[in-house]
Amino acid sequence: MVYLDLLLVGFGNVGRQFARLLQEKSVQLRRDYGLSWRVVGIATKRHGSAFDARGLDIVKALRLAEAGTSLDVLTGAESERLLPADASGLDLIKYATSESKLRRLQHLVLVETTLLDIQRGQPAVDHVITALRGGAHVVTANKGPVAFAHREIRSVAELAHREFLFEGAVMDGIPVFNLVRETLPVADITGFRGVVNATTNYILTAMEAGRTFAEALAEMQGAGIAEADPSFDVDGWDAAAKTAALMNVLMHGSATPRTIARTGIREITRDRVEDAMARGKRIRLVAAAERGDGHPVGHVAPEELDADDPLAHLTGMQNLLILQTDVLGSIGIHQLDGGLTQTAYALVSDLAAIARRVGRDSS
Ligand code: HSE
Repeated sequence: MVYLDLLLVGFGNVGRQFARLLQEKSVQLRRDYGLSWRVVGIATKRHGSAFDARGLDIVKALRLAEAGTSLDVLTGAESERLLPADASGLDLIKYATSESKLRRLQHLVLVETTLLDIQRGQPAVDHVITALRGGAHVVTANKGPVAFAHREIRSVAELAHREFLFEGAVMDGIPVFNLVRETLPVADITGFRGVVNATTNYILTAMEAGRTFAEALAEMQGAGIAEADPSFDVDGWDAAAKTAALMNVLMHGSATPRTIARTGIREITRDRVEDAMARGKRIRLVAAAERGDGHPVGHVAPEELDADDPLAHLTGMQNLLILQTDVLGSIGIHQLDGGLTQTAYALVSDLAAIARRVGRDSS
């Protein structure tokens, strides 16, 4: 049996959906991976923090957060004096990693789902590095750490003999990183091209159907798919962060979202979309990278695509990523259904991978 103690830093749409899915999948995780878990800590931006080394009542935590009430009432009596109710994510990680030494928590895993920061990827990068150095494994759906600091985090994780997994950072739960890591040994990824942002694809295809930009964006915000600051989607920042993440991991790059040449869809009007359609074209926000002078170069921009381009066929929230390889030609990964559950699933699947590793290490 593998026992994992989870620290949830970020408890918004993704963090809460992860907590629900984890409960739903408990029986399968136990049966197929011998995995038993407890949530020992939660840090939120607006609803306080809680820690209890004996495990928190996750159903209660979900109820409190959804009612907009502080989680601090859940903190176990022994921790109360040490952990202030307004403890930040970093405070909680430091506290739990010292607690883990003191109290011998089981294997600690940070589940990082704070919001993307497009300046420096903070505080997520610090969360991840502090947790790894403190002896925790890390799973994240946040694009920041891998888009801004993949190389540094990788070496910290290797030194600490801990896992750093981030499948949810690109295309929700569709296994992009796992596909390459687990099934394409020694293949070289020489470039990629794709549509990797759901919100902008939804807006562009809604405008093709005669609806307005504002209506379509409001729907994506209502569904919790748009970023908390929707200009990150509209101005191409989310796609640039995903492009940097893909370049760093799959092409050994050292990009950041700010090194990606970027144009968003703010200037794309319904007239432009209709004009393109009248000429048999489709406008899509295309993210791509190729090897320049040895270094991968990435860019994000709306492009007018011919009707026979596979990216032109993507409707609604669909994504498609085409990887160029040296040995298999091009491989397309098509996401037909995206959303919060899929992102939460990426975290659950990363957790299953950690359970497998911990089981292996201790056998
Ligand atoms: N805002 C993102 C999108 C969410 O629209 O694709 C998934 O990363």
